Amino acid sequence: MTEQMYRTHHCNELRKTDIGREVKLAGWVAVRRDHGGVIFIDLRDREGLTQVVFRPEENAEVAKQSHSLRTEDVIQVCGKVAPRLAGTENPKLPTGDIEVLPQLLTILNRAENLPFQIDAELSNEDLELTYRYFDLRRPRLSRNLQTRHRVTQATRQYLDSQGFIEIETPILSKSTPEGARDFLVPSRLLPGKFYALPQAPQQYKQLLMVAGMEKYFQIAKAFRDEDLRADRQPEFTQIDIETSFATPNDIYTLTEGMLAAIFKAARGIDIATPFPRLTYREAIDTFGSDKPDRRFDMKLVDLGDVFRSSQFKVFQAALAAGGVVKALNAKNFAGITIGQVDELTAIAKTFGAKGLAFIKVENGEWKSPIVKFFSDAEKESLRTKLQVEEGDCLFFAAGKWEIACEVLGRIRLRIAEIQKLTVGSDNRQSGSDLDFLWVTDFPLMQWSAEENKWNAVHHPFTRPKAEDLPLLEQKKFGEMRADAYDIVLNGVEIGGGSIRIHEPDLQAKMFEALGVSAEEQQAKFGHLLRAFRLGAPPHGGIALGLDRLVMVICGEQSIRDVMAFPKNNRGQELMTQSPAEVDPKQLRDLGITLAKEKF
Ligand code: AMO
Ligand code: AMP
Repeated sequence: MTEQMYRTHHCNELRKTDIGREVKLAGWVAVRRDHGGVIFIDLRDREGLTQVVFRPEENAEVAKQSHSLRTEDVIQVCGKVAPRLAGTENPKLPTGDIEVLPQLLTILNRAENLPFQIDAELSNEDLELTYRYFDLRRPRLSRNLQTRHRVTQATRQYLDSQGFIEIETPILSKSTPEGARDFLVPSRLLPGKFYALPQAPQQYKQLLMVAGMEKYFQIAKAFRDEDLRADRQPEFTQIDIETSFATPNDIYTLTEGMLAAIFKAARGIDIATPFPRLTYREAIDTFGSDKPDRRFDMKLVDLGDVFRSSQFKVFQAALAAGGVVKALNAKNFAGITIGQVDELTAIAKTFGAKGLAFIKVENGEWKSPIVKFFSDAEKESLRTKLQVEEGDCLFFAAGKWEIACEVLGRIRLRIAEIQKLTVGSDNRQSGSDLDFLWVTDFPLMQWSAEENKWNAVHHPFTRPKAEDLPLLEQKKFGEMRADAYDIVLNGVEIGGGSIRIHEPDLQAKMFEALGVSAEEQQAKFGHLLRAFRLGAPPHGGIALGLDRLVMVICGEQSIRDVMAFPKNNRGQELMTQSPAEVDPKQLRDLGITLAKEKF
């Protein structure tokens, strides 16, 4: 053992077989307990905990020194590994059979005025983000970052084994439409001009295909100025992939292989491939969502046949107007409270429904203000179609297909939350908590009433399905489907991609349908249209949201918990206090004056 070494082992390493050894450990004081003059320390490093015991009878001087220790001090101890006293072993700790009895204690640094306790429950997110370097000492967060590292390593290894090469693309770049606002960076050398931070490396990766790179990937930063939620950050990371001469099936197989490698590396489990697939239409129709969580059933059932000539006008009229009547059966939910009815009705209204009819099945009776309108035949059909049993609660939505499906989809998720349907499904050893799904055949465009124009559902470079191409000429844009797919894990959209347009004329037509004028096409996308005239191969790809994927792997509810330095929901990084005001000179150099009245 050389004198200069800080440590011989990490804090999750020593076992019974090490008893009697002289060791050195270094780390943080996680817990300090004083048992009548004997000081017990849980010494923590990145890997785990080791108990260190300062007994006056072993070494009076060191024991005395240990009285000054406080949590989060950084120390080094040199001593002997000893068995714990019989009956005091801790089976929960890998190092729980042993303890270290120090002959030497070096206090490497003190920790003063802790902003919060590392082992306390989360309480004040702003405070935790302000002291993020301290927050990250929490074993849970530290483990999450280690898992994230395992995921990126496995990704690189797998894609390399499949012939993909990692290529970096510019961060200072040009606006590429992915549906969010751009972050802009003013240029000093070209005053009045701006770079845009990439919402995705979409155009660059397509241009790399034109360049003949064939198989590209990048663990890429993407930037989107949008409203933030638990699964959205303004700056996030994608596993970005593009490949030439690929069909959607090639991309599915590649992605499935990559996810299998990732789950093996990060969780040690074998996931079943290939993943099931649903078309967008089926997903919405059955689950009321394009990212269905299928870990619970509660499927949406179509009741058009039942109510077409019903006496209940709300349903009959919806069908007569070309809409639908759909329902779901929430098992064991007849005990729903008035508060819960109000909450679910409010959700239904938020998503465009006029109301939310429901029926409770209690004591053999159907309880609902609307049952009196139903004929016996209608009730009988409901009973078989919805497999009605005692204790059920049925919810109905009538109206336009999109709205009725979305409303019930939201109700379905909320009920699952209330009933904790996914809690306990979490079997981390077997991976039976994992529900992977491809959602395919997304619509190509959707009408925006607000902007009075068609928008791309994925992005404007997405290829229409070959059989739907004639609809482009016929301007039936709303009926066109795309060769676009999302990958969903446990109800979270963890990735999306498409086969691209590689023909300049088709791309120009697509831009035209999206209301981009010929001049604008040249100004914004001239480079792409030109590139497509120089022998662009057919190509396609996908991007996985790395943060979301790691969130699910770690069993977290927010992507912030798997990012080192995330932003809060106002887009602030509180530790360094960004965004921040800048020196007026910097603004002058950029030729920028602030419109004071705006602030
Ligand atoms: P898309 O916009 O679907 O596709 O993005 C890919 C994946 O990135 C994740 N994601 C986010 N994660 C955290 N915070 C955000 N704000 C955020 N936005 C998106 C999601 C999403 O599925 N260029 C295309 C990909 C392609 O066509 O190849 C793209 O970016 O998990
Ligand atoms: P009303 O005739 O408006 O009093 O509605 C009768 C019942 O049907 C109430 O329970 C409403 O919440 C419900 N309801 C009204 N419109 C719809 C709709 N579009 N879909 C489902 N239920 C509805």
